[in-house]
Amino acid sequence: MPLKVTIIGGGSSYTPEIIEGILKRYDSFPVTDIALVDVESGQKKLKIIGELADRMIKKADKSINLTCTLDRKEALEGADFVSTQIRVGGLDARAKDERIPLSHGYIGQETNGAGGIFKAFRTIPVLLDLAEDVHNICPNAWIINFTNPAGMVTEAVLRHSSHKKVIGVCNIPFNMRHSVAEILEVSAETIKIEFVGLNHFVFGKKIYADGMDRTQEVLDKLADEELDYSPANIVNLGWSKTFIKAMNLLPNPYHQYYFQTREVLEKDIQAFKENGTRAEEVKALERSLFELYRNPDLNVKPRELEQRGSAFYSDVACSLMDSIYNNKEDIQTVNTLNNGAIPDLPDDCVIEVNSIISKHGPRPIASGPLPSTIKGSIIQMKAFEKLVIQAAVTGDYSDAYTSMLMNPLVADEKGSKILLDELLEAHKAYLPQFKVNHY
Ligand code: G6P
Repeated sequence: MPLKVTIIGGGSSYTPEIIEGILKRYDSFPVTDIALVDVESGQKKLKIIGELADRMIKKADKSINLTCTLDRKEALEGADFVSTQIRVGGLDARAKDERIPLSHGYIGQETNGAGGIFKAFRTIPVLLDLAEDVHNICPNAWIINFTNPAGMVTEAVLRHSSHKKVIGVCNIPFNMRHSVAEILEVSAETIKIEFVGLNHFVFGKKIYADGMDRTQEVLDKLADEELDYSPANIVNLGWSKTFIKAMNLLPNPYHQYYFQTREVLEKDIQAFKENGTRAEEVKALERSLFELYRNPDLNVKPRELEQRGSAFYSDVACSLMDSIYNNKEDIQTVNTLNNGAIPDLPDDCVIEVNSIISKHGPRPIASGPLPSTIKGSIIQMKAFEKLVIQAAVTGDYSDAYTSMLMNPLVADEKGSKILLDELLEAHKAYLPQFKVNHY
């Protein structure tokens, strides 16, 4: 039986990951067709990735038909899964999201603060357009959205497109499970974490190893020792004993932006002045990755790819596709509709939560009311995300302004306008929905 995966943003340096993930699961998830799609400006990269993917498939000795194309509609024909990993405006746009806020003394990050807002503004309309194509061409396909900001993009598709089969994925919960396994010196397969929250704003409530509650032990270790569990793209400052003891929750590495704002900002401004921001680092990394990928003798995913922040994301995306395809009913952490799982949030918003994955998609597991320590910030972040999505769709200046104001990393009357106007101007080529820029 044909089983087709279409990868939007196939020329991404991350693609060897997903190819490896598919090949690893071939026995249970026997993909027959992979289509790699990219835009014209990504054509050269697509060719290099296509040739490497072909060598990887041959090395694994699997009979998978691989196509590389710039024609998205053609690539969607017959797709069962559509994985999305795009960056609208490329790394140059990311550099602006990072540099402009930093130049005004605000956190400059690709998915948080003002930068994250603008990544959403550029990306949401493109994903909505893709979702309509999926709906018309392969209506039964699941969109597995890895495109950032993954939570907001997923919610935008659910709210504003005709296609409802979309699931958002992120490698952060996966990384947290692996880090906890290292802390406890056990294998990651034995670890279960009860996650609660939003994408890049998720907390671990309870931690189990082989069914035993070991939350306290992990939190004590985190409070007592300097443990680094940040992905490659985030500086690790560690957590104070007081914070961990008082919160009694496992934070994710992105929480440093919110709870250690001043320290992160100092470090990021220093890096920005000395060596540039993460976008520049990633550009250099990409250049050397593509040098490696070009080598006709390379036929596996090179280890160097692990220097990217989303290393291993494909394990998340491919396990999800495998569980849907095989109706596994196992538990995975995804971005999906709340539907009452967190009673403090609206049913129709997207949360990041453990869900039972079956052929019908994810069913979120109820996690009860939010702990009072984080209830306020999660409700505020969700309200902020809703404004961002609204502004991304309508291009309304007031929505865009209030989303800046509501974001804890901006939250300043004049600063919001300064950042908004400068970023609108810097990204105008990718923001056709914003007609009137200033008032
Ligand atoms: C993290 C996040 C991803 C993000 C990535 C950036 O792991 O979870 O959402 O895309 O880092 O990594 P990069 O190597 O591009 O800085």
